[in-house]
Parts: sequence; structure tokens; C-alpha cells
Amino acid sequence: MGTVTIPVTAPACDVWWAAPSAASPALLALLDEEERRRHARYQQAADRDRYVVAHALARLLCAEEAGCAPEEVGFELRCGHCDRPEPHGKPHPVGPAAGLEISISHSGGRVVVALTRQVPVGVDVEEVRASRDIDGLGDYVLTPTEQAALKALSGRERVSGFFTYWARKEALLKATGEGLAGGLTSVEVSGPDTTAAVLSWNSPAAPADVALEDLEAGEDYRAALALLAPGPVRVRVHDAAALLSAG
Ligand SMILES: CC(C)(COP(=O)(O)OP(=O)(O)OC[C@H]1O[C@@H](n2cnc3c(N)ncnc32)[C@H](O)[C@@H]1OP(=O)(O)O)[C@@H](O)C(=O)NCCC(=O)NCCS
Ligand SMILES: [Zn+2]
Repeated sequence: MGTVTIPVTAPACDVWWAAPSAASPALLALLDEEERRRHARYQQAADRDRYVVAHALARLLCAEEAGCAPEEVGFELRCGHCDRPEPHGKPHPVGPAAGLEISISHSGGRVVVALTRQVPVGVDVEEVRASRDIDGLGDYVLTPTEQAALKALSGRERVSGFFTYWARKEALLKATGEGLAGGLTSVEVSGPDTTAAVLSWNSPAAPADVALEDLEAGEDYRAALALLAPGPVRVRVHDAAALLSAG
């Protein structure tokens, strides 16, 4: 196979991985009031840790990219679906970090934040859980063609294949900002054993250009990245451990 050369002019996306175990009082102190309220509402320590690491990391990355202090970075949550008064939906950096685009995801022992300039981005990581009722969730997550492709797989491949589909589709819906309200079956993607690609997208929010890639997240995880830009994309992957322990 030949090497694919990605032009330096291609849009760049930085993907930062972290572990929930990086959670600390110093990182909690970086969160704004609304985030701290949401953090306190989680009953499980594991949920609180994923939340604080993800949101502190997003703020630290935006501050570094915008050249400002972390407390100057704000996130406006925008939902295009409903007018529920409580802030929710896709986070958009505001203040000195306006113009940056981010996406946050957390599952099990993984936290990931993707950051670009101007290009809308969506990232999703899913822990592969054999306990999930894959057949029961089929109609909600997969189109008939995707369900048939998944049925052709067996055992562990079928379970991990389901999460490959899920991560690819959710990354796309997070890039547009629709989230699950957009409907996971509105978009059809390539099968789990083939290169990530969008095959069709039946939604008013469907973009003209989209780049979809799988991300490596370890054996028990499936992850994907979507950018609303024509491909190829320069994806730079980083480990956030040092940044978080310094913060
Ligand atoms: C939020 C959602 C997109 C993420 O799914 P998930 O796999 O459970 O969680 P992930 O860890 O991958 O992603 C969560 C992050 O996505 C981001 N997010 C939330 N809504 C988003 C949206 N519409 N578009 C893009 N990103 C979104 C947030 O940063 C969130 O982080 P937080 O929970 O720490 O605040 C999905 O659960 C969803 O759409 N939920 C909303 C359903 C709903 O309540 N609809 C009614 C109101 S519109
Ligand atoms: Zn809403």
C-alpha cells in the first residue's frame, strides 16, 4: 500500500487522551460554577472523575491555544433541538477562545478532547461492553444494512463491531451538534472491518463535507473522530497526563 501524503494546508485536529485517575482538586478548581454544579450532581466517583478531567482538559487546551488564562475560557452549550432552560448541548468556546471548536467524550477509563480551529469536530469513545444488549439496541443504532453487516460477524467481533458503528455515528452527530437527538440511524457508515466512511446521511443538518476516522483507544475501546471539512485531515494525537498533573 502506498503512503498517503497529507498536505500541510489540510485542516488539523489535536486529539488529547487522558485517564479519569488524573482527577484532582486542582483540576476541579479550574471548572466554572455551572460545571462544578453538574460535577457535584454525579452520584458515582467514577462519573465525577471523568467529568472533571474532561472539562479541565478542555479548558486548559483552549487557554493554551488562545494564549489566555484558563479562567478566561468560557463554554456556551448550544442545543438546536429544544428550549430546555438548563444549559446543554454542544460546548462552544467563548471569550478569548472563540473560534476554537472542541468535542469531549468519556467512557470507562478513557477521556478524550478534540480541538480544532474553525472546523466543527466531534469525537466519541465507547468502552466495548459485552453486557450491552446489542440486538435490543440494533434498531435504535443501526440501519437495516448495518444490522445485516453486523449479524454476519460473530462473538467478540460482533460486540466490538457494534461499538465501532456507535462511535463513528456518534462522532458525526456530535460534530454537527445534533447529538443523539439527530438519530443514530439518520447516518449510515461503512462496516466495522473497513475504513471509516460516511455512506449516506439523511438529515437537514447533514454537511456537504465530512471527514471520518477511527482513533486507536486500546483493545477494550472503540473511538472515532469526525470533522466537517473535506478530508484528508491532519490528526495529531497527544497524551494529556503531563498537562493535567501540571494544572
Ligand atoms: C450528549 C451526547 C451527544 C453524548 O453521548 P455519550 O456517549 O453519553 O457521552 P460522551 O462522553 O461521548 O459525550 C458527552 C459530551 O458530549 C458533549 N455534548 C453534549 N451534547 C452535545 C451535542 N448535542 N453535540 C455535541 N456534543 C455534545 C458534552 O461536552 C458532553 O460532555 P459532558 O457530559 O461531560 O458535559 C448524547 O448523550 C446526547 O445527545 N444526549 C442528549 C439526549 C437528550 O437528552 N436530548 C434531549 C435534549 S436535546
Ligand atoms: Zn435540547
